[in-house]
Amino acid sequence: MNKLSLIAVGIVVLAACAPKTAEVISPVEKPVTVVTSEFPSSIVAEGSKLYAENCGKCHKLQTVTDFSSEQWYKIVPNMSALAKLDATQENKILQYVLWKSNK
Ligand code: HEC
Repeated sequence: MNKLSLIAVGIVVLAACAPKTAEVISPVEKPVTVVTSEFPSSIVAEGSKLYAENCGKCHKLQTVTDFSSEQWYKIVPNMSALAKLDATQENKILQYVLWKSNK
């Protein structure tokens, strides 16, 4: 092997190792954990996750039980638009808050 190919091998090895090292060093973002068994359905479970991820960005995460179902029917579409969520996500969040506020 000549010098040049040794350098080439060195670069390949470095490149192969780099992502792994970066993964370990970079701060791990805390995932929002959802225990599905807590919820009556996977839609509600996903709604809970979406709520936690998207609804505490502009203001603190609101306590679901502070609002009635009637209020949530109006709030969720307004806030989903602000949060730029699609109709599916909006529906999941609505299912979640309705379930939670009626518990
Ligand atoms: C882009 C910023 C933004 C995001 C994202 C956002 N909100 Fe809001 N939210 C606001 C603002 C501003 C207000 C206060 C003004 C208002 O009531 O429209 C508010 C008010 C509220 C209120 C109080 C309403 C009341 O009548 O007192 C609730 C509940 C709420 N948001 C829930 C949510 C939920 C649920 C989500 C996720 C789908 C969400 N917000 C995402 C900006 C945001």
